Amino acid sequence: MANLNMIIIDSNYDSREELKVLLEQFHQIDVIGEFDNILAGYAAAIEEKPQIVFIDLSENIDLGIETIEKITYRNKNCVILVSSINVNTDLVLKAMRAGAREFLTQPVMIEDLSTALKKAKILLENDEGNTIGQIISVFSNKGGIGKTTIAANLALKIAELTEKRVCLVDLNLQLGDVTTFLDVNPSFDISYVVTHLSRIDESFLLSSLEKYKNKELYILADPPNVEQAEEISSEDITSVLSMLKEMFSYIIVDTSSSFDIKTLTCLDISDAILLISMVNLPSIRNCQRCMDLFQRLEYKTDKIKLVVNRYNDDEEITIDDVEDALGHEVFWKIPNSYFAVMSAINKGVPVSSIAPNSTIDDSFTELAAKLTDSVIIMHESTKPTNKNFKLPFNLNIDSLKNLKLFNK
Ligand SMILES: Nc1ncnc2c1ncn2[C@@H]1O[C@H](COP(=O)(O)OP(=O)(O)O)[C@@H](O)[C@H]1O
Ligand SMILES: [Mg+2]
Repeated sequence: MANLNMIIIDSNYDSREELKVLLEQFHQIDVIGEFDNILAGYAAAIEEKPQIVFIDLSENIDLGIETIEKITYRNKNCVILVSSINVNTDLVLKAMRAGAREFLTQPVMIEDLSTALKKAKILLENDEGNTIGQIISVFSNKGGIGKTTIAANLALKIAELTEKRVCLVDLNLQLGDVTTFLDVNPSFDISYVVTHLSRIDESFLLSSLEKYKNKELYILADPPNVEQAEEISSEDITSVLSMLKEMFSYIIVDTSSSFDIKTLTCLDISDAILLISMVNLPSIRNCQRCMDLFQRLEYKTDKIKLVVNRYNDDEEITIDDVEDALGHEVFWKIPNSYFAVMSAINKGVPVSSIAPNSTIDDSFTELAAKLTDSVIIMHESTKPTNKNFKLPFNLNIDSLKNLKLFNK
């Protein structure tokens, strides 16, 4: 879903400014107009058809309520949020009956605003009525780069943030370790699903897949042995993923580190590929090979989302250098956090259980939000890529620039 447009109607300059400052901390909200006059705001709400109208009723209750009624009547899909300095049951009831969805007390608190925006987003999405799932594959042609770490933590974050059904698929058919990372012991795996494809329906699959704790996260494990893995064909992969697309809102795939036909089939039908790299020459060179292949396969540029893993702020090679060398924007960077990640893996738990709200945990949350267009409060440390740091000393940057020549 694209960004949500909002119009603010509030006669008080200070509270309007405060609201805008709060809104800056959220993904996906664009304020397209602000009005101190209710009638002008109403005209814009009808003309511009914003998805959200925020209207303050502190000054003129009657005109405000009438305006809410009219906007509801003329722009049925608009979510109206209301605020007032004086809140009483009578006023809240009146506003809700007129069509408002949420009532916030002035001054607006960030937590209340966050809840209201999340609800607005769910309402607006329901209006769109789309249920077809998105496949997000986590890929690198190198092992040990963080694919499973990212797939497992990201899948859980997406389930928590969106509260929608998410399936984490282990397509590392021979060497899968998703079950170890999350310490689950599923009784069903992908080879079972493949062999019973024609007889499996939604309720059967949901009851048989391992559900992670009380979350909306379901896990489809790798086969228990190599022979079963080999029996799975690329057509089977297509069938399973297509079936999952109809049942889950998000399918996160942990892939193997090779360009075999099964992995390529999966990448082909993915909506997004998170191409994982670290900031070192061999890793960037490998990414270049992947990018070349994706180009030959005519994948759209924005299907490929470059994610830099294990990033340190004092890296010799900067994000700008990586972007220059690969000719592709870095979509996200995940900080290096050895102890949190290692301890999470050893305990078989997500990073959020070991280091909640740490920089790396926030980074997973915000990556999940960016991929799913979720409304969340952004943390200072992980706001969009800081491109300002420079090389600390004279690194052999030419070797990076020449990468493109290397692989042609
Ligand atoms: N952001 C990170 N910070 C620190 N260590 C990490 C990070 N991501 C992954 N690792 C470490 O890298 C190793 C490989 O990760 P893994 O997810 O198994 O990679 P892959 O699935 O690509 O083989 C693990 O031991 C893990 O501890
Ligand atoms: Mg792995």
